[in-house]
Amino acid sequence: MAHILVVYATSEGQTRKVADRVASRVRAAGHDVTLVDARAAAATELGTFDAAVLAASLHVRKHQPEIVEFVRKQRARLERVPTAFISVSLSASSSEQHDLANARAAVDEMFDVVDWDASLVHLAAGAVHDRRMNFLKRWMIHRILREKGVEMDPSGDMEFTDWQALDVFVDTFLERCRQSAGAVA
Ligand SMILES: Cc1cc2nc3c(=O)[nH]c(=O)nc-3n(C[C@H](O)[C@H](O)[C@H](O)COP(=O)(O)O)c2cc1C
Repeated sequence: MAHILVVYATSEGQTRKVADRVASRVRAAGHDVTLVDARAAAATELGTFDAAVLAASLHVRKHQPEIVEFVRKQRARLERVPTAFISVSLSASSSEQHDLANARAAVDEMFDVVDWDASLVHLAAGAVHDRRMNFLKRWMIHRILREKGVEMDPSGDMEFTDWQALDVFVDTFLERCRQSAGAVA
């Protein structure tokens, strides 16, 4: 059994849901999980960990500053263990290569900024929840959707996340951990 740290940053809540799913999957595989909101990470005793999964979402092509801050502060510890980074965005829901390339470029840009690199990266499609956004954000996101030929659902909620693909990613990461220097027994 290993101890796996899961840290997330979210603006409208979808990445918390993604992180919850990751944590459940890791626990179901028999490991201990510490699940932390990046905003509270500085005040949280993280303890020692054998692997880490970080997740954040894209807003205007950038991930949340809290996750950037977290990596900066914990980089030395993150470099010693297998790590995964999950980027949640609308671009990741697209079938267009250039959208996926943009989502990946935003991840690489963040890695450059913090001078760190995760062992594995997953681009997860996000969600739109009208009631969680102010007028300006709603306007922006509806415009992005329209550009992609998607009309907002009248319910005000649209979820694009592929949960099965996320589960497969978590399993692949756990397997990688198992193989790497016995980090996860
Ligand atoms: C104001 C705003 C800006 C956004 N900018 C981007 C963007 O630049 N690229 C992208 O792919 N998705 C963008 N999105 C979509 C979010 O990444 C998506 O809704 C995601 O699910 C949000 O995750 P969260 O709820 O964890 O914050 C944006 C969403 C909002 C509300």
